[in-house]
Amino acid sequence: MPNTVLIGAQWGDEGKGKIIDVLTKQADIVVRFQGGNNAGHTVKVDDEKYVLHLIPSGILHEGMRCVIGNGVVVNPLALMEEVDGVESRGIQTQGRLFVSDRAHMVVPYHGAIDAARELRLSEGEKIGTTKRGIGPSYSDKVSRVGLRMGDILDPDFAEMLSVRIDEANQVLVALGGEALDKDQIVKDYIAVAERVAPYIVDTVSLLNESLKAGDSMLFEGAQGTLLDIDFGTYPFVTSSNTTAGGACAGTGIPPHAVDQVVGVIKAYTTRVGEGPFMTELHDEIGELLGREGHEFGATTGRPRRCGWFDAVVGRYSAAINGVDYWAMTKLDVLDKVETIKICTGYICDGVAYDTVPANTRILSRCEPVYEEMPGWMQSTKDVTRFEDLPEAAQAYVNRLCELTGVPLGILSVGPARSSTLRIAL
Ligand code: GDP
Ligand code: IMO
Ligand code: MG
Repeated sequence: MPNTVLIGAQWGDEGKGKIIDVLTKQADIVVRFQGGNNAGHTVKVDDEKYVLHLIPSGILHEGMRCVIGNGVVVNPLALMEEVDGVESRGIQTQGRLFVSDRAHMVVPYHGAIDAARELRLSEGEKIGTTKRGIGPSYSDKVSRVGLRMGDILDPDFAEMLSVRIDEANQVLVALGGEALDKDQIVKDYIAVAERVAPYIVDTVSLLNESLKAGDSMLFEGAQGTLLDIDFGTYPFVTSSNTTAGGACAGTGIPPHAVDQVVGVIKAYTTRVGEGPFMTELHDEIGELLGREGHEFGATTGRPRRCGWFDAVVGRYSAAINGVDYWAMTKLDVLDKVETIKICTGYICDGVAYDTVPANTRILSRCEPVYEEMPGWMQSTKDVTRFEDLPEAAQAYVNRLCELTGVPLGILSVGPARSSTLRIAL
């Protein structure tokens, strides 16, 4: 397989984990390049369900090498808990999971500051973060005061960490929170250092050597384009570049090494957390999508907000990421919807928009312009060839591709590996 960056094209939870799992057998190495354990990527293997937060989803394929790149923020306690979780289910990680020594570390004060900031915001201002400390950890990175995974191996690590905890405790108290127990954090991190040490390597060299050797790389994006720190619905976003450009900065792989971009996109839209959602449904159809799609956050368990497919978002994502083909998921969730709407543009204060405006206040007031298509009102979950789908389902998928200007490469009609249709491009 050509070196492939896979990204989420909406607000996350598009089914990236499942598509990564399907594509992994054609790759030699799977690489996470941004985000942290705010991600929750679900993979269904036979009757077993795995939810991965930091470890690349490729770990479920025997022998596959998996890299956590420099652009990821890593909570070592959460990482080792996840390692224990997969190992207890018979999956070995030693010698095939590699963590960048340049990846920034998430420390408990990041989570505490994340939560304290959210608490201070009024309704309408809250971001609805996962409270995993992702924003504060990236803030420390950009402010040049962060600790990196490589530092955990340093003989002076305890001292470096103590200094950081002292400063973070001052911030926490100023935010109205409580200071954390410094000795406990230092103790926990010194203890975890020993366990995590064998996984920490120079992944920049590892990846570039692997590239030279002709290995095929699969870059596993987390979150989605509309949660990107630059291109998303700011400030209701996460704190990293979730878009394809982030794959190079987050791994140390040069841009020309990326051969293709796969966009994962749901056949409708969901969002978990706060912020504008132009096609959100507050009616029984929204409830049906949530129920049929089991739309609950894989990390926090929060119910996901549901709505119609937004082709403006799709077009915007296609442009920013340079999507070569869509991996469209969850078509089966629409099986019981009689008439399906597709958003083709927005109107705000009498002005028409055919792209996503930067101003979140404008975006919040945008009214979607819809076109309608008939539903198919029959099950698609056992279909294995595109031509065997009901005509109305084929027409719907074709219309989404037409409106977004991207061809279909993969269509998913269920969580299992087998519910995946490959389309010859
Ligand atoms: P990710 O964060 O993008 O990896 O997505 P999540 O794992 O958070 O959420 C996607 C959910 O949809 C998971 O529970 C998947 O098992 C499930 N899923 C993926 N593809 C399909 C599909 O085509 N149909 C249905 N019904 N479920 C799917
Ligand atoms: P995957 O990889 C969906 C959302 C949070 C919140 C915002 C900021 O599973 O698609 P953060 O904790 O990152 O500071 O929260 O981003 N969010 C996600 N939503 N899927 C995710 O990951 C998400 N990761 C973060 O709900 O709105
Ligand atoms: Mg998810």
